Amino acid sequence: MDVMSDVHIVILAAGKGTRMKSALPKVLHAVAGRPLIEHVIDTASQLAPASITVVVGHHADTVRGALAARNHVGFVVQEPQLGTAHALLTTEPVLAHAKGTLVMLSGDVPALSADTLKSLVSVHTQTNAAATVVTAVVENPHGYGRIVRNGEKIARIVEEKDATPGERGITEINSGIYAFDLAGLYDAVRSIGSANAQREYYLPDLVSIYREQQRPVETVTVADSAEILGVNSRMELAVVGKHLRLRKNAELMASGVTIEDPDTTYIDADVVIGPDTIVKPGVSLVSGSVIGSGCVIYSGVRIAGSTVGDRAVVYDHCVVTDSVIGADSAVGPFAHLRGHAELGQRAKVGNFVELKKTKLGEGSKSMHLTYLGDAVIGSGVNIGAGTITCNYDGQRKHVTTIEDGAFIGSDSQLIAPITIGEGAYVGTGTTVRQNVPARSLAVSAGKQRNIDGWVEQKKRKGNAD
Ligand code: UD1
Ligand code: CA
Repeated sequence: MDVMSDVHIVILAAGKGTRMKSALPKVLHAVAGRPLIEHVIDTASQLAPASITVVVGHHADTVRGALAARNHVGFVVQEPQLGTAHALLTTEPVLAHAKGTLVMLSGDVPALSADTLKSLVSVHTQTNAAATVVTAVVENPHGYGRIVRNGEKIARIVEEKDATPGERGITEINSGIYAFDLAGLYDAVRSIGSANAQREYYLPDLVSIYREQQRPVETVTVADSAEILGVNSRMELAVVGKHLRLRKNAELMASGVTIEDPDTTYIDADVVIGPDTIVKPGVSLVSGSVIGSGCVIYSGVRIAGSTVGDRAVVYDHCVVTDSVIGADSAVGPFAHLRGHAELGQRAKVGNFVELKKTKLGEGSKSMHLTYLGDAVIGSGVNIGAGTITCNYDGQRKHVTTIEDGAFIGSDSQLIAPITIGEGAYVGTGTTVRQNVPARSLAVSAGKQRNIDGWVEQKKRKGNAD
């Protein structure tokens, strides 16, 4: 994207976030499965800018550490934090020689769309503005800076705490998102004072400074004010989270996914779902998950970091983490797949079955009350009800291997390390301590005895007491 080659992005994330009342820095609180600031960085990255610089301060190391994987992001430290204008000045050493446009974003405004950012940059460059402010008209402007206009043109921005009662009635607000011409920017920011209610250096004061210098200042007003919702409190975290969630659900529905009740469906921003999949109410599809097409995901299911193949069905109340479900397979209700469990195609896992780090091959079944841990299970295997792989000897985990076509009778314990050969049978109630060769039968229970008249005898004894 050539037009953005002279766009430099700065993201403010140094503030304390006092109103969150949290030990965690505000920008690391998550919505839609990701920290606030990750959403902002992702949106910024869609512009393919020349640089992204995050201003950190309060708990700088924690914020920087959380973003360590973002190789294209640079950091500057603002210490102490004296306001948003002061925050921008800390980027001067990095951007002093940069030319073009500086786009400023807030680490606590995660719902901003890339489209809005693109129109901000195009309005800003086409009008040759010194500054362009993203604004929104909202029902309740409380807490935001208000846009004071002189006729059509923006004259200045006044913070809530400094506003007159009349100005507080203005419903057009400052989003805290701006584009600036880098030429002369830092000198202008340096001239901002702190004579205001909070004794802070307010970046929005740049608007009136530029207007006095007769430099053009423009505005871009977003159609959907939810885009610029900021997070200052837990309440706002929930409001913005809900907005992002509904937006994600709407996108998925537009792409052909049925979501029966978007209000109760939680799908993280990065989750991918194929068309004609049906998602029932109360489902959570967590970050890192990819769901195929034509699947049905029933109520109360949580799937995290997992892949679900086409046409698979996950019945009610299953928990699936870091696992793979093959195409055309069925899971649940009440199943638990975790720690890299892997189901082949057409496999079936039923009620109260737990799989941990276990491969269940194509067409294999484990339908009831079973624990399969550290097992490698071939195709066409039947695991009877109540089977347990005893994978842990108190010190180490061991592998159970069950080869193709084997049949494990109900209520069996397989003491690992152990191998059940191809096509072998394990009789019901067997404690398997030795490998079972292919196509043989393992039984460990003793011969059954029936004691005639035992109940009558017991009753007579009871009466004698
Ligand atoms: C700011 C704007 C307000 C706007 C609102 C939109 C100012 C003075 N006011 O108010 O006009 O309506 O955003 O959400 O800019 N930060 C720093 N260093 C600092 C202070 C803040 O990095 O010294 C960061 C914060 O971490 C945050 C962002 O800047 O990410 C905004 O700061 P915040 O204190 O939340 O400003 P608001 O009061 O919301
Ligand atoms: Ca804020």
